[in-house]
Amino acid sequence: MYFIGVDLGTSAVKLLLMDETGKVCRIVNRAYPLSLPRPGWSEQEPADWVAQSVDGIRELVADCDRSQVRGIGCGGQMHGLVALDAEDRVIRPAILWNDGRTGTQTAYLNETVGRETLSRFTGNIAFAGFTAPKLLWMRENEPENFARICRILLPKDYLTFCLSGAFCTDYSDASGMLLLDVEHKRWSPEMMEICGVSEAQLPALYESWEVVGTLRPEIAEATGLSPEVKVVAGAGDNAAAAVGTGAVGDGPCNLSLGTSGTLFVPSRTFRADDHNALHAFAHADGHYHLMGCMLSAASCNKWWMEEILGTAEYGAEQERIGTLGENEVFYLPYLMGERSPHNDPDVRGAFTGLSMGTSRADMTQAVLEGVAFGLRDSLEIARSLGICPAGSRICGGGARSPLWRKILANVLNLRLERVESEEGPGYGAAILAAVGCGVYPSVEEAAARLVRVAETEEPDWVLTARYEEKYQKFRALYPALRDWHRT
Ligand code: XUL
Repeated sequence: MYFIGVDLGTSAVKLLLMDETGKVCRIVNRAYPLSLPRPGWSEQEPADWVAQSVDGIRELVADCDRSQVRGIGCGGQMHGLVALDAEDRVIRPAILWNDGRTGTQTAYLNETVGRETLSRFTGNIAFAGFTAPKLLWMRENEPENFARICRILLPKDYLTFCLSGAFCTDYSDASGMLLLDVEHKRWSPEMMEICGVSEAQLPALYESWEVVGTLRPEIAEATGLSPEVKVVAGAGDNAAAAVGTGAVGDGPCNLSLGTSGTLFVPSRTFRADDHNALHAFAHADGHYHLMGCMLSAASCNKWWMEEILGTAEYGAEQERIGTLGENEVFYLPYLMGERSPHNDPDVRGAFTGLSMGTSRADMTQAVLEGVAFGLRDSLEIARSLGICPAGSRICGGGARSPLWRKILANVLNLRLERVESEEGPGYGAAILAAVGCGVYPSVEEAAARLVRVAETEEPDWVLTARYEEKYQKFRALYPALRDWHRT
């Protein structure tokens, strides 16, 4: 038996074929464009996601016994707004999770509606990338488009809709809309009222492993699969990644170093911190989690390498880096503004501490360190809540760099574990499909049986102490620069 896990990312869709023993048999990647039409705006064409996913699935299963493919699960970039009209046509390009146009609407929600009220309704406050502020933005700035909305979908739910016809979402992804009463797992009537939408426009809610339908005949034909292949509800990419690295139940945390950087803390019980600094969301294992999210993580390194240095030789560039913990150059990773912990769509990135002695390697190192310090900001919030993990799983493209893992382990003072399958969200989504098809009795049990630690990076006390000093300097930079970006 085979199961397909889809990770609908920001730069590409990653598709993975897993057998029932958890072995990854094939991986296919298909890229699509990201449009940044104005500073701080970030959009994509949903049609690109679907075309690349369907074509990618066809390639993924081309050489296997296709009759053995039983289920598909999609994980994907969270918070994005896909709006469909009465004929199920996409009304405008999707507004993505890292889009910062909603500063005014986010401030209205947090300050006029009020943080406490939002937290009572949803367990969360508003962040610029969340879906509810996007709906308010559309209502104010594109009223004709807003009036045409019949269905509101998240990115991976649009893909699931195109694959199966099911108009659905799952609790983990729905949590990031600021329309869900997360603790009680139901749409919030108050939030629907505030955003001017009705329940009929919102997708049906499911647990991530639940089967929502089977493949549409035309998709079955295009991919070479049977129309009986089951499609499960899937999960937001961070929840799917956590399943894929075994961060389920009351188990270990997960760090994801993709376009975004996240710290994910699973929990069997619902909890939110007093300031809602971390997101309090549902998990794909049927429970909950807390999460901090920085908007630009591995994307900072990609930008620095490809756009600025003009090279794709990541490894060679990192080999020039010498001593750790002594860099005088600091980098602020706020290329798209920042979510956790600053909730500031207007702040921008910066280098400081440059001198005539600064080398290219120092600046590359500062980028890797700046991202690690940004993740440390989220970890500090978790620590202030009494969550003091000794270790964490780690996944995402950035986690492939041994040097970056070493920097992270020491900046965070955490033992970091890489698991055998690096494809966090894709692997987790395939596990969800296997659970939905009855191969495993629960997500937790599937993760316990399938996920194996491959490699561990232990922090070193000398380096940890050096990085502690550097982190305290990093922390002082955001308050110093915040207002400068507003003028
Ligand atoms: C999480 C978030 C990002 C995206 C990236 O809240 O916005 O991690 O899901 O794909």
